[in-house]
Amino acid sequence: MLIGVPKETAAGEKRVATVPDVVEKLVKLGFSVAVEAGAGDAANFADDTYRAAGATVLPGAAEVWAQSDIVLKVRAPSPGEVAGMREGSTLLSFIWPAQNPELMQLLAAKKATVLAIDCLPRQLSRAQKMDALTSMAGISGYRAVIEAANAFGRFFNGQITAAGKIPPAKVFIAGAGVAGLAAIGTAANLGAIVRANDTRAEVADQVVSLGGEFVKVDYEEEGGGGGGYAKVMSEGFLQAQREMYAKQAKDADVIITTALIPGKPAPRLITAEMVQSMKPGSVIVDMAGEQGGNCELTVPGEAVVRHGVTIIGYTDLVSRLAKQSSTLYSTNLWRVTEELCKTKDGVINVNFEDDAIRGLTVIKEGAVTWPAPPPKLPPAAAKPAAAVAAPAAKKGHGHGESEPMSGAALARVFGFGALAFLLVGLYAPATFLSHFTVFVLACFIGYMVVWNVTPSLHTPLMSVTNAISSIIAIGALVQIAPPLVGGVADRPNGLILGLAVFALALTAVNMFGGFAVTRRMLAMFRK
Ligand code: NAI
Repeated sequence: MLIGVPKETAAGEKRVATVPDVVEKLVKLGFSVAVEAGAGDAANFADDTYRAAGATVLPGAAEVWAQSDIVLKVRAPSPGEVAGMREGSTLLSFIWPAQNPELMQLLAAKKATVLAIDCLPRQLSRAQKMDALTSMAGISGYRAVIEAANAFGRFFNGQITAAGKIPPAKVFIAGAGVAGLAAIGTAANLGAIVRANDTRAEVADQVVSLGGEFVKVDYEEEGGGGGGYAKVMSEGFLQAQREMYAKQAKDADVIITTALIPGKPAPRLITAEMVQSMKPGSVIVDMAGEQGGNCELTVPGEAVVRHGVTIIGYTDLVSRLAKQSSTLYSTNLWRVTEELCKTKDGVINVNFEDDAIRGLTVIKEGAVTWPAPPPKLPPAAAKPAAAVAAPAAKKGHGHGESEPMSGAALARVFGFGALAFLLVGLYAPATFLSHFTVFVLACFIGYMVVWNVTPSLHTPLMSVTNAISSIIAIGALVQIAPPLVGGVADRPNGLILGLAVFALALTAVNMFGGFAVTRRMLAMFRK
């Protein structure tokens, strides 16, 4: 069968449904692939790279739509595109059937089979590899932080420079779903102090594991509406939440809002007064612009300045990272194709026994099959967002996960060490032995200290170690006040005394300065 990939026609859409790497994988599944000329240009995939991967490049969209058995797309097709579609062919794309009833009718009239990637049953853990909503939301969360950092006039991380101390930026994230968690991880990695809130209490651990702090609303109410999504909260809760958000707005430099309840307008969380209470130069990125916005002053699709605060309402965050998002999206589509073509012979089978395929299929051979019944398996797995949290949760603790040494290996290491010591003891002079013992103990203590300190604290650790190295002050002290031998002190001459006092003064700077810098560095990690 021929898979066709037309160029996206929606204004501002830079993504492409298949990248050259995925073309190779589709060819291995037995398909032929045809790509419209220039389809990958906006995402930096040239026609020649498609040719090299085994695709044919067709001159126009009309040829692709007319010749393809299966069309892969990003955005739902326009009526014009559907008109050019071959009757009885298959389409795999975002469709949003609830919002696009006319499109569904047009596609049904073409006797098409339509798989809507937005209808994937996300509760199935094996569906995660096909979950384009998750991969796209992750990218948009990342990009939201980058847009915020671009509009914000300061560093995100705290720094101590010769020109003065710079405090870290404070980022508040409203809604810790897939996009929110990606934003938390990105902002924390940039060195900001990150706080987040969500109506679903179960995300608190994920927030913490990504380096954020979960801020609770002082009101007891469960926010989970099932399947990892939120429900509409009571007026009492929303009032308490508004009070908490008002406090956060005063304190935060950047607010990123991602709060959403599926099928409902986005909850209004940031009022005009809250924007007014923020410091001039602060930034709000409202990701829910398309659903009406979480902030009262958002203009969807635009960045505006209100009360000195930049409010970014871009609705194309994913497209602003087109190469990355095309790569992930086309991998999601390839995974769906793999499920459709288990025989690897280039022929698809839309098997309704398969829960994932059943959920995805919104039209089969012209008959509307949407909405699909809920998948038979109960939703056992956690929300896919957990997958985002996992890698970062391990950060800084990687060494703790290594397997402990077996008893025999430990005995061998100790045996070898004891033998080496015995040899050194037998042949080396006594003075060397005492220095060597101190050296080995120092290595051991240093190793244990560094290994057990979180990597992010290694800079203050170096600074405190530097301060401790001022122990060399003892040498100067011994010169200034030599020990008594037989009740008489062997006083040094004037030059040595002068040098010793000078050395002591320098070491004191190192000692007190080192401890003071360490204290200031550690203060930046205290939230
Ligand atoms: P999601 O459903 O995974 O996350 C939404 C989160 O908001 C959930 O964790 C939910 O519990 C929380 N929430 C709901 N009501 C809340 C309230 N009153 N207070 C605090 N938290 C609340 O959705 P996902 O995939 O993370 O997407 C987030 C938003 O980003 C959506 O509005 C989505 O449409 C938008 N989006 C925007 C893009 C853009 O380019 N601007 C691109 C991709 C997604």
